[in-house]
Amino acid sequence: RDYKEPLRAQFHFSPLRGWVNDPNGLVYYKGEYHLFFQHNPYGVNWGNMHWGHAVSKDLVHWKQLDEALYPDNFGTMFSGGAVVDVDNTSGLGTAKDKPMVLFYTAAEKAWEQGLAYSLDGRTFTKLPNTILDKITDGNRDPKVIWHEPSKHWVMVLYVTEPDNLHTMHFFTSTDMKSWTFTSKIVGGRGDDRYMHECPEFFELAVDGDSKNKKWILTGADSQYAIGTFDGKTFTPEEERLFSQHGRDYYAAQTFSNEPKGRRVEIGWWRTHTNQGNNSFNQSMSVPMEIKLKKTAKGLRLVRIPVKELQVLRNKSTKIKKKNISAETANVLSGLSSETAEIQLVLKPNDSKKIQLVVRGLAINYDVAKQELEIDKVKAHAPLIDGKLDLHLFVDRTGVEVFAAKGETYMPVNYNLKAENLSYELRAEGGSATLESLEFYTLKSIW
Ligand code: FRU
Repeated sequence: RDYKEPLRAQFHFSPLRGWVNDPNGLVYYKGEYHLFFQHNPYGVNWGNMHWGHAVSKDLVHWKQLDEALYPDNFGTMFSGGAVVDVDNTSGLGTAKDKPMVLFYTAAEKAWEQGLAYSLDGRTFTKLPNTILDKITDGNRDPKVIWHEPSKHWVMVLYVTEPDNLHTMHFFTSTDMKSWTFTSKIVGGRGDDRYMHECPEFFELAVDGDSKNKKWILTGADSQYAIGTFDGKTFTPEEERLFSQHGRDYYAAQTFSNEPKGRRVEIGWWRTHTNQGNNSFNQSMSVPMEIKLKKTAKGLRLVRIPVKELQVLRNKSTKIKKKNISAETANVLSGLSSETAEIQLVLKPNDSKKIQLVVRGLAINYDVAKQELEIDKVKAHAPLIDGKLDLHLFVDRTGVEVFAAKGETYMPVNYNLKAENLSYELRAEGGSATLESLEFYTLKSIW
């Protein structure tokens, strides 16, 4: 595509036209990653929800296709997940031709859960009847996974119970068409959004040890619980953990059937794109791999941008070990780029504050507090072995910052000024050692 809009992010997915919010039905099928998304094809504000559709061979370059799911007599098409029915348990494919199965909410009218399938990843057929009746108004966002030990499917569904109580209901099925309630998890109430909408549920090995696995349940704001799961009941061991610290990230989902066995996540990156004559609004985050790590505080999710993103790297500049302070010249003065990937490791020594200024946007690190601050968003970013590590992606609509080896993920929306392509790095109140810095200009995915 030859996009011309000044606020079109250059390597974050956005649709040609219309509003986009949650990623839906992330699944790898017949050689392609599929990204469906909440889409209003008719306007730049939320409404008329369809499932938009894009595919990619490398998780980086996306090709937008026709809408996959259109509103129908049951309602508009709200969020949900997708799987590949490898054993054809649904009977919707054949032993050879395995179906891709989408689960969505027929919203705003019926509030029932629906199923659609595809054998080619291009055309989608809905079952004539929905597969799960309404529990309460607003129940939504079915996420379905295969539970291998019990050989059945598990659906997690967000259900608002009386007095605005947020809950996640669990169901099981062997054919994807009839579902049995098994248990539920109670989250927050009202504005306490713990376990509020868009469930995501998966198992991860602790530090990659396949003999020590835990289950993770998250809601749309990425607050999560870690626990055990017997195929019917999720039992949390730690709750209300915060896994990302931007204000601008929501409804993240992970790919099922990921060919390399990774847990790869994409979330809705809320941006300020409803400006000027943009024909679209909002975008997705970069894809990242999620891992479960033992940290000083206990088990925590970490996020690492996927390796595939390296194909975007264009010109690189490496800066060797250097001491920097308020008095030294800006080590990044020679750099100029609209988009960038920056990786740096720095020892703060006796400095009080580290400041990286990206095209006019300041990324501040308070050494004493071990805290990052970007456009008033704050996040703890611990020094690891006395070092600050930052990994940044800079696009027209803001920055995504990974710190502390992925413990901190800060997606921050901020429309960078087209005329400012400069970068600066300084240490204040003392001097710091910049151990290494790599800077890459990035290619556009369009
Ligand atoms: C989250 C959400 C979902 C719902 C969708 C509708 O952003 O509210 O719960 O399915 O958006 O677009």
